[in-house]
Amino acid sequence: MSDLNTLVMQALSNVIEPELHRDIVSLNMVRNLSIQGDVAKFTIVLTTPACPLKNVFLERCQDAVVGKVAGIQAIEIQWDAEVPKGRSLPNQTQSPANILIAVASGKGGVGKSTVATNVAVALSEMGAEVGLIDADILNPNIQTMTGLDTGRPLVEDGKMVPLKAFGVKLMSTGFLTTPDRPMILRGPMLHSAIRQFFDDVHWGKLDYMVVDLPPGTGDAPLSLAQHFPLTGAVIVTQPQDVAVSDARRSVAMFKQLNVPIIGIVENMAGEFFGIGGGENLAKELSVPFLGRVPLASSVRMGGDYGRPVVLYDAESESARALTHIAQAIAARASLLIMQSPNVIPINIIG
Ligand SMILES: Nc1ncnc2c1ncn2[C@@H]1O[C@H](COP(=O)(O)OP(=O)(O)O)[C@@H](O)[C@H]1O
Ligand SMILES: [Mg+2]
Repeated sequence: MSDLNTLVMQALSNVIEPELHRDIVSLNMVRNLSIQGDVAKFTIVLTTPACPLKNVFLERCQDAVVGKVAGIQAIEIQWDAEVPKGRSLPNQTQSPANILIAVASGKGGVGKSTVATNVAVALSEMGAEVGLIDADILNPNIQTMTGLDTGRPLVEDGKMVPLKAFGVKLMSTGFLTTPDRPMILRGPMLHSAIRQFFDDVHWGKLDYMVVDLPPGTGDAPLSLAQHFPLTGAVIVTQPQDVAVSDARRSVAMFKQLNVPIIGIVENMAGEFFGIGGGENLAKELSVPFLGRVPLASSVRMGGDYGRPVVLYDAESESARALTHIAQAIAARASLLIMQSPNVIPINIIG
């Protein structure tokens, strides 16, 4: 390394990662530094391509280097991401994804499938490899919300090939049944159905797997929490009291099962159901509030017609809220893995 390289690296080691509270050089986030003329060019490797803090990093790096290292007038950053991988316990099924996120709720109809679909699509748009499992085995919706009602997965080498919509790989019982011939299963069979969606599908390597759960504290969330290496759970609620009190139960269940709460999403906020119930619950329970999505016909139509609002009405308030929520989920999920005591993400901590 030339002296100038060393000086720039020294300067960059004063930049602190805002959430991990360690400097970006010792976190091995700075790569491929080269000096061209008076410009320092380097790559910053984030823990998620959906990082909401790029501007913060840019400003902090500029402040640390420009005017501090003689001979450097500007910096140029390339962005890259390595999503840290959570570990599974010995008795758990391996996840095809580095990060495994459950989307849950207490009450039905609050927008889990809507949030799960839009979050998955938003993460994929931001450059991540994403899978989405509809674990609402008895009442699957993901096939409709992604416009794949008539889709049927192919089988290769005894495993199903996931269907793909908007860059997201998908698996749903909706691909295997028709509404007039529903699945009728007992609890233990539900567990094996969910397990098959992990084990008997050609997922390939994924950064994120989003699992859309049925409502409540029944067999599916219990099975998922016990047998799969969940990074955390996102709890969706409407703002009104009955939904909030069911959401409180859902948070309590995941806490009891030692699944970290990624945070609470307040959906369908507005005159009809009220505003603030989800945010207040997050405060009360000291868990992150991930954001508020207004009640809006574009969200509903996006679901009915298989055109997720984050793509088809991207500038709307709801789409922006859902995109922010996807970023917040990704950031917090990475943080949960990086901070977890028994996990050392090899790629990140150098
Ligand atoms: N923010 C919203 N605004 C308007 N309609 C919504 C919103 N979120 C969800 N919906 C609609 O409400 C219904 C229930 O949502 P869904 O995601 O299926 O809930 P769940 O999976 O929790 O049962 C769907 O028709 C969906 O399109
Ligand atoms: Mg649903």
